[in-house]
Amino acid sequence: MGVRTFLFFRGSKWTQPTSFREAYTDVALLTGLLGGPVVEGRSGGRLDTAPSGHRLGLALGIAALLVPATVLLYAFFIEPYSIELTRHALAADVLQPLKIAHLTDLHSRGFGTRERQVVELVEQAAPDLIVVTGDVVDNGSLEPSREMFRRLRAPLGVWVVRGNTEQTRPEAEEVDFFRSVGARLLDNQGVAVRSDVWLVGLDDPLTGHPDLKVALEKAPAASFKVALFHSPGHFAEVAGLFNLGLAGHTHGGQVRFPGLGSWWLSPDAPSYVSGWYTKNRSQLYVSRGIGTTVVPARFLARPEVALIEIRPN
Ligand SMILES: [Fe+2]
Repeated sequence: MGVRTFLFFRGSKWTQPTSFREAYTDVALLTGLLGGPVVEGRSGGRLDTAPSGHRLGLALGIAALLVPATVLLYAFFIEPYSIELTRHALAADVLQPLKIAHLTDLHSRGFGTRERQVVELVEQAAPDLIVVTGDVVDNGSLEPSREMFRRLRAPLGVWVVRGNTEQTRPEAEEVDFFRSVGARLLDNQGVAVRSDVWLVGLDDPLTGHPDLKVALEKAPAASFKVALFHSPGHFAEVAGLFNLGLAGHTHGGQVRFPGLGSWWLSPDAPSYVSGWYTKNRSQLYVSRGIGTTVVPARFLARPEVALIEIRPN
């Protein structure tokens, strides 16, 4: 048995493989190990591989290209369209259970794959109330979101607050649009969605002028108070004035690297990326939201529809 170089490039004889093992050997030689030294392994010129630093380096090089390519494909084409329905429950002083579907940061560009999933997930969840905490579309007309809103229905209504992208158009235009699709915009306003539940919606804390005290003016003292606002950093200022806060804006970091954190995070919300937070007896849920911003990719920050069930104490 002697060491030979690979036959196709060095002129050695080659015979048709007669077994899976022999065929596998040839494929391995052709796909990753071109030109490396091999060991003649059977009569008639059949060659077997031998351990080689050269081939190992080449294999590692190929893996170094394949892993990032796979991650990029996943981040751009799979994760952004894998919406998760997350379920949460909390006990509170309410008269009967209340199920809230929380949507945020849709950044909708039409009734596409994501919007269809959102409608299906919400229909399956059958919430009492649907809330949307801003960034419905990117800048410009709200029309791309019309079909989705037309299909979102809940007994206690669909309520929307402004995000940072909503600041680019006149508010009157937004009020009219949301009315036309059966939803309501709450801009520093409060409403009794049920005798025991007061819902307030604030202007975007980052780019607008939120006023929680005005929105809470008519709230019965004993009511369960739910506050909607886009940028979660506002929680540090208003915690204690409501029972449950719902926010978005961060996209859960959108693209996260293990051990390194997010590639982008709004400077106003470093402490509130996603999930539950508690302060002054108020609870805040920050959703990862639905859409994407800056780059159409997500990694380790799946889009979500949050379903929050409030049960009587
Ligand atoms: Fe957003």
